[in-house]
Amino acid sequence: MSSKKFLDIIHKQRSVSKKKKFSGTFLEYLDLVNDNPDIAKLSHQRLYDSVVEYGVEELDDSDFRKWKLFDGDSLKIYNYFKDEFFGLERIIAKVMRYLKSASLRGEESRQVLLLMGPVGAGKSALTEHIKSALEGVAYYHLENDPQKGEPLHLIPRSLRDKFEKILGAKIEGDLSPVARHRLLKEFDGVYEDYPVVEGTFSQRARRGIAVVPPMDANSQDVSALIGSEDISKMDIFPEDDPRVLSLNGAFNIGNRGIVEFVEIFKNEIEFLHTIITATQEKHVPSPGKNAMIFFDGVIIAHCNEAEWNRFQSQHTNEAILDRIVKVNVPYVLELDQEIKIYEKQLNRSDFEAHIAPHTIKVASMFSVMSRLKPSQKCDLLTKMKIYNGEEVIEKGRVKKIDIKDLREEARNEGMSGISTRFIMKAIDNALTDSVEGIITPITVMEALIKQVKEQVINEDFRSHCLEILQKMVREEYLSILETEIAKAFITAYEEQAQSLFNTYLDNAEAFTTRQNIKNKTTKEEMEPDEKFMKCIEEAIGIVGSSKEGFRSDVTAYMFAKMRRGEVVDYKSYEPLKEAIEGYLIQSVKDMARIVTKSKTRDDDQQKKYGEMVRTMIDEYGYNEHSAEQVLTYASNNLWRDS
Ligand SMILES: Nc1ncnc2c1ncn2[C@@H]1O[C@H](COP(=O)(O)OP(=O)(O)OP(=O)(O)O)[C@@H](O)[C@H]1O
Ligand SMILES: [Mg+2]
Repeated sequence: MSSKKFLDIIHKQRSVSKKKKFSGTFLEYLDLVNDNPDIAKLSHQRLYDSVVEYGVEELDDSDFRKWKLFDGDSLKIYNYFKDEFFGLERIIAKVMRYLKSASLRGEESRQVLLLMGPVGAGKSALTEHIKSALEGVAYYHLENDPQKGEPLHLIPRSLRDKFEKILGAKIEGDLSPVARHRLLKEFDGVYEDYPVVEGTFSQRARRGIAVVPPMDANSQDVSALIGSEDISKMDIFPEDDPRVLSLNGAFNIGNRGIVEFVEIFKNEIEFLHTIITATQEKHVPSPGKNAMIFFDGVIIAHCNEAEWNRFQSQHTNEAILDRIVKVNVPYVLELDQEIKIYEKQLNRSDFEAHIAPHTIKVASMFSVMSRLKPSQKCDLLTKMKIYNGEEVIEKGRVKKIDIKDLREEARNEGMSGISTRFIMKAIDNALTDSVEGIITPITVMEALIKQVKEQVINEDFRSHCLEILQKMVREEYLSILETEIAKAFITAYEEQAQSLFNTYLDNAEAFTTRQNIKNKTTKEEMEPDEKFMKCIEEAIGIVGSSKEGFRSDVTAYMFAKMRRGEVVDYKSYEPLKEAIEGYLIQSVKDMARIVTKSKTRDDDQQKKYGEMVRTMIDEYGYNEHSAEQVLTYASNNLWRDS
């Protein structure tokens, strides 16, 4: 590209961004507010609006998560977070509820929002994303005011009622000492002439978004929060002249927007006292001898549980504790959502490796299970599935375990366990080590085991992790793999399943209503095919007298569905689906085993093997290397002793 082209781009951008930024007198600003009182809103409201602007939806009735996981709650889904955060819907809803109450000037507007949770649960990412909602958003402020104060503060107290009525806007707060000084000295108190400008929020340019990193005891200095006096100017101006002030602390920069406290309780408590006045009185001290300065901003802090517990246990901290709205940010316990986290991160990285099916799932099963507390009612794997909204089948019935009971039983779940970063690192390691540029569930499980051995220090937790990986995750993966390989063997799998389903349903109905079956072509009447039904039922362990209940359940369920006008297929009723799949898979297992295991195959076997590998590649998303790797793994681990 020639330099002319670059210049074009630059000029174009400049003309757009320069376009219609307001700059005028306070009187002109009053006109603007008169037309649109919304522009004078306070910080919580502005932030809330900036997020809501992207759209809010309620979890759809057709979404199984609504019923299975959220107890039928009409949970609000904020589009602004939707593609970035997964499984945090309820936490985000809490944050938004805080912002909403605060924007209605409730008590929350005088409280700090504290996100508390384990490492890598997304606290920083969430805060970062919340701050970004303000980036580029426009607001009006007094010109050259280090506080970038709301221009309406120019209106004297005695006139505020009147102006509030005319404008339909609330007026809260006071001029900064710098703006007040300028008003008196430069404009002789004629405030209608005071210049007002339009600006935008920008974290990098330190406009309206401020970050306070944790500081050690020695370097902690309140000037980081409230600014300082500029010694070089003290010779020029009198001591109490506001022009000596350098109002560049976080509460100055973050006025009108957000002040973030990173790892807040890593600071000494004295350092945090400013927060008390900032929240409760909406004023912060000014450096030197000046009066307090009005502050209107959203204060967001985050910390981990240990720090929180330590801080909370000291009763001298009560004053601050009383001003905190704590929102717990636990790890995700929903498998499908956990998977999305890593898919997002992998999509954003430069790795171009082939990732075999189930790889991310296997890693996510591990992290989720490591976070679950054991239950009296079921094993960890079952619990994970129920938390994921899956139906767990046992003896032909959907296992009736109420997710609410499981949650009751294990309060405070998700506050410990394996972190997202741990998993990402293991995936990265597997990617870096991979020879063929592939990663598979097998290489990722290896990487995870290695990393657990190296990095998990707590003995008990380490052996728990190894048990999850080497037993639970491994066995579950093998069973997924076994089904997949068998499916790959069956041509037109879905059609076969559907036809078995139709036959079964006809028979079960006839059996239940004690009628005969009419053959569709020959019109011949026959008794229900007991042998056939049994084969299907045995695949999920239904034997003996329980068959009658199962058959009438299936029939009742299907006909109720049909009456509602719903389409039924072999996937409609989970227990029957499992039974049919089990039956189909059982029927090809032996062949799958022989063909996969044998070193030498005859022509027919070689053909079958080739077709299966093709299906794995074309339909399931393997490539040649990964298919070979999992097949070798299957023949070494699945069908060992048979
Ligand atoms: N539920 C989630 N949805 C999407 N991404 C997530 C989720 N949880 C964690 N992450 C991702 O995991 C990474 C680590 O998160 P983050 O740094 O925000 O954790 P943290 O809670 O601040 O941890 P720490 O206490 O160690 O600072 C980020 O890249 C974040 O985007
Ligand atoms: Mg963090």
